[in-house]
Amino acid sequence: MAALWSGRFKKDMDSMVKEFNASIGFDQRMYNEDIDGSVAHVAMLAKQGIVTEEEARVITDGLEKIRKGIADGTVVFDVEDEDIHMGIESRLIEEVGEVGKKLHTARSRNDQCQVDARLYLKKEIGEMISELETMESTILDKAEKYKDALTVGFTHMQHAQPITVGFVFMAYFQMFRRDIERLQDTLVRMDLCPLGACALAGTTFDTDRHMTAEQLGFRAPTENAMDSVSDRDYMIEFLSDAAISMMHISRWAEEFVWWNSSEFSYIALDDSFCTGSSIMPQKKNPDMAELLRGKCGRVYGDLMQLLTVMKGTPLAYNKDFQEDKEGVFDAVDTWKASVAIFAKMLENTEFRLDKIEPRLSEGFLNATDIAEHMASEGIPFREAHNIVGRMVQKCEEKGCQLEELTDEDLASVDPRISKAMLGDISVKACVDARDSFGGTAPHEVQRQIDAGRAWLEKEVG
Ligand code: ARG
Repeated sequence: MAALWSGRFKKDMDSMVKEFNASIGFDQRMYNEDIDGSVAHVAMLAKQGIVTEEEARVITDGLEKIRKGIADGTVVFDVEDEDIHMGIESRLIEEVGEVGKKLHTARSRNDQCQVDARLYLKKEIGEMISELETMESTILDKAEKYKDALTVGFTHMQHAQPITVGFVFMAYFQMFRRDIERLQDTLVRMDLCPLGACALAGTTFDTDRHMTAEQLGFRAPTENAMDSVSDRDYMIEFLSDAAISMMHISRWAEEFVWWNSSEFSYIALDDSFCTGSSIMPQKKNPDMAELLRGKCGRVYGDLMQLLTVMKGTPLAYNKDFQEDKEGVFDAVDTWKASVAIFAKMLENTEFRLDKIEPRLSEGFLNATDIAEHMASEGIPFREAHNIVGRMVQKCEEKGCQLEELTDEDLASVDPRISKAMLGDISVKACVDARDSFGGTAPHEVQRQIDAGRAWLEKEVG
C-alpha cells in the first residue's frame, strides 16, 4: 500500500527504512486522543463551512467506528501505517470513502501529534495526581499512628537527635505534596492547544482554533504556529516532575532497605513485598524497595534522552522529535507503577518499636537538648556546646549515658551544672520539648498532620 503522502515519489520506501521510520508500534497508545482531535477538527471545519455538516457527520461516525474497532481488536495497525495519525486516516478512507480524504484539511501531522501527546499527558497527569494523593492519605494515617513513637534521627548516617516515626512520615508527605503541586504547575503551561498550527506556518483556510481548543478542553490555542509544532518543553517538564518524584521514592526506598536490614530491624517488611533466594534458604530480600530505588535511574534516563534529543534542533518540526514519545510513555508507566507499589508497601509496613527502643540510648541523642537547656539557663550556647562536648567525653571514659553522670561528674566538667539544673533529659522529654513550628514534638507533628489533611481534602474535593 502506498503511503498517504506518496504523490511525489517514484519508488516505495526501503523495507528497513519503513520499519525504522514507523512510530505506529508505540504511538497507537494515543489512538483515543487522536480520534478526539479529529472529531473536534472536523466539527470546526463544518462550522467554518470548509466541509459540509453532512460530510462532518459521516467522518465523525467513521472515526467513532474505528475507535470501537481499535478497542475491541478488530482494527489493527502495522508498519505500513507508519504512525497512528496515518493509520486512523487510512482506515477512515477505507470506511467512509472519498469524503474521508477531507479530514486532513487545515492540519498537519506536526500539530496533530502534539495535540495527541498533550491530551494524553493531561489525562495521565490527572491519574498521577490521584495516585499520589492516595499515597499521601496512607502516609497521613501512618504518621498519625506513629506520631508518639520515638526513633533515631540521623545526619551523616550517625545518631543525631531523637525524633518520632510520624515526623519522618510527614517529611516524605511534604516531598510528595510538592510532586503533586509540580504536576499541577506543569498542567497549566501544557494546557494550550496546538491544533491548527499545521505544518509550521498556520493555514490559508478560515479556521477557528479557539473552537477546537475549547472542544478539546484546553484553556486556549497556542500562540505561535512554529513554536506549537516544535515545543517539547511540556514533555520535559513532565519528565522532570517524574524524575524528581522518583528521586523521592528512591530515597525512601533506600531507608526501607536499611530499616529492614538485620543490623537495624526497625521494620519487618511484609512477606508479600519480599522475595527469597534461589540458593540461601533463609533469605527474605527487600527486592521491591530495591527495585523502586533502581527504577529512578530509568526515569532519569527518560528525561536525559529527551533533553538530548531536543538540544540544538532548529525550528520547526524535525523527525528527531518522533523520539519524544517512548521515554514519556516509559516514565508514565514506571512512575505510576512505582507509586502504586510503594503506597501498598507503606500500608503493609509496621515499625518494630521494641527494636528501636534500645538504640535510643546510643549516640548521645539528647546532647543538643542539654546544650539548649543550659543556654536557656543563661550559659551562652557556644559555651554550653563545649560543656556538653566535655560531658560526652566523660561518658565515653565511664562508658555511660549523659543522664547517668553524677553530680560529681557534672561539677568536674563545669561548676555551674548539676542533675537538678539539667532537669528531665530523657529522650521522650527532649522530643516533647522540640515543639517549634515544624519540629518533632508529637503535638506539633499532629498539627502538621492536620494541615496536611486539610490540604489533601481540598485537593481531592
Ligand atoms: N510520527 C510523527 C511523530 O511522532 C508524526 C509527525 C510526522 N511529521 C512529519 N512531517 N514527518 O513525530
